[in-house]
Amino acid sequence: MDVLIAAERIDARVRELAAEIARAYEGKPVTVVGILTGCLMFTADLIRRIDLPLRVAFITASSYRGETTTSGRLEIRDELLPDISGRHILLLDDILDTGKTLTRVVAHLIDRGAASVKVGVLLRKIGRQEVPFEPDYVGFTIPDKFVVGYGLDFNDEHRHLPFIGVIPH
Ligand code: IMP
Ligand code: MG
Repeated sequence: MDVLIAAERIDARVRELAAEIARAYEGKPVTVVGILTGCLMFTADLIRRIDLPLRVAFITASSYRGETTTSGRLEIRDELLPDISGRHILLLDDILDTGKTLTRVVAHLIDRGAASVKVGVLLRKIGRQEVPFEPDYVGFTIPDKFVVGYGLDFNDEHRHLPFIGVIPH
């Protein structure tokens, strides 16, 4: 496995993002919503550094890119989400690729009555975005390579790696 971003660099950047987020919310309560499963490590590490009154919840969003590349089907499941009406949401995902997932999940949370939705992603891939979408917080901008580790998977494997890596081929 080739290491693209070492664990130490992730840790340093996550601390910076947490400080930036805490400053932006000025002590106001935030509800962090992670998109499972990729958000796992980013969410766990980030929330431990955010000095704010904070709730955390999760949703799932599964795309079917393997099945049909063109349909862009996305299934959002939010049975585990508490009532978020009137709450300020910080939505977290592992990576911004085409932008379709985050665009739809943001719309879904607004639909559920969120007072505001800001978005943080650990990674943003260059040259892949298909829908205009501007995240509020970005950890790292990366080249158009398929990455794994720190929550990101290939066929549900490699999520546990403490670094971001590229599978050699
Ligand atoms: P989008 O809707 O195309 O932006 O897709 C975002 C989702 O695709 C992420 O939440 C990941 O689950 C997955 N994804 C995109 N690129 C990668 C990658 O390089 N490695 C692993 N998963 C990826
Ligand atoms: Mg995924």
